[in-house]
Amino acid sequence: MNKKIGFIGFGKMAQAMAGGMIHSGLVNPKEIEASMRTEETRAFASEQFGIGVSPSNRQVAGFADVLFLAVAPYTYFEVIEEIKEDIKQDVIIITIAAGITTADVENAFGQKVKVVRTMPNTPSLVGSGMTAVSANSEITDEELHSVEKLLGSFGKVEVIAESQMDAIPAISGSSPAYVYMMIEAMADGGVRQGLARDQSYRLAAQAVLGAAQMVLETGKHPGELKDQVTSPGGATIAAVSTLEQERFRGAVLAAMDSCTEKVKELGRK
Ligand SMILES: NC(=O)c1ccc[n+]([C@@H]2O[C@H](COP(=O)([O-])OP(=O)(O)OC[C@H]3O[C@@H](n4cnc5c(N)ncnc54)[C@H](OP(=O)(O)O)[C@@H]3O)[C@@H](O)[C@H]2O)c1
Repeated sequence: MNKKIGFIGFGKMAQAMAGGMIHSGLVNPKEIEASMRTEETRAFASEQFGIGVSPSNRQVAGFADVLFLAVAPYTYFEVIEEIKEDIKQDVIIITIAAGITTADVENAFGQKVKVVRTMPNTPSLVGSGMTAVSANSEITDEELHSVEKLLGSFGKVEVIAESQMDAIPAISGSSPAYVYMMIEAMADGGVRQGLARDQSYRLAAQAVLGAAQMVLETGKHPGELKDQVTSPGGATIAAVSTLEQERFRGAVLAAMDSCTEKVKELGRK
């Protein structure tokens, strides 16, 4: 890719994204520069990723053709205020924070800027991320396509309407946390039946991975796949029946509602 990539903030998410771009061969580490607060993170980023590092957000803003704002949501507007005079004219700004709209970003820059709002997740660290994307009207189809390619280097990408963006943390941004809880609970169940702890984690995690692949690769309805595993009077339907009695699906839906409510509340602040 013939573009210079900048990261303001180089924490867990930025590292996952930069790692994917570099490992896929799409971006040369020399074409990436990142700024962060501490000398410790700068030394780590330089050694582990071979990218350029700087204590100056303004320097990185002036370097980048594609600029990721990878700081905490509450730091966004202070960072934009700091760099707004330094960005290149046609820079593509990429946001990764829940609740911050493309209009918020345009207003903060005080001018028309190209903004792509995204919501990634941490499985990006292992190249299996899920990133939802929506662009403002300044972004051309060609630019959106090149951003999709960049984000596709660490997982799957879905383009959605910005009005649906607040729904994304609950379904793919935060949901790895619920799945980890499920894997942990399944492993506890295995240990309770006498399986070794480490083997239980492997068995449970691989079952979750395989089930997800079945949904994605067969294109079958999850209910149909569930029906295929449940023989009449068998053990699986006994488990399914208990999950229904314990309101498993209701608990997942309620958790997602709480997540979305919180995202909206954070966006209003
Ligand atoms: N983690 C997730 O699952 C996830 C998922 C989707 C979206 N996000 C979003 O991604 C963003 C980053 O999250 P994260 O988990 O990567 O956070 P993180 O690990 O805490 O990293 C934050 C980074 O920002 C740097 N930083 C803080 N203030 C700064 C400033 N004023 N100027 C420049 N750099 C500054 C920190 O530098 P030092 O390292 O030097 O302290 C650190 O590198 C957040 O907006 C978050 O909501 C996260």
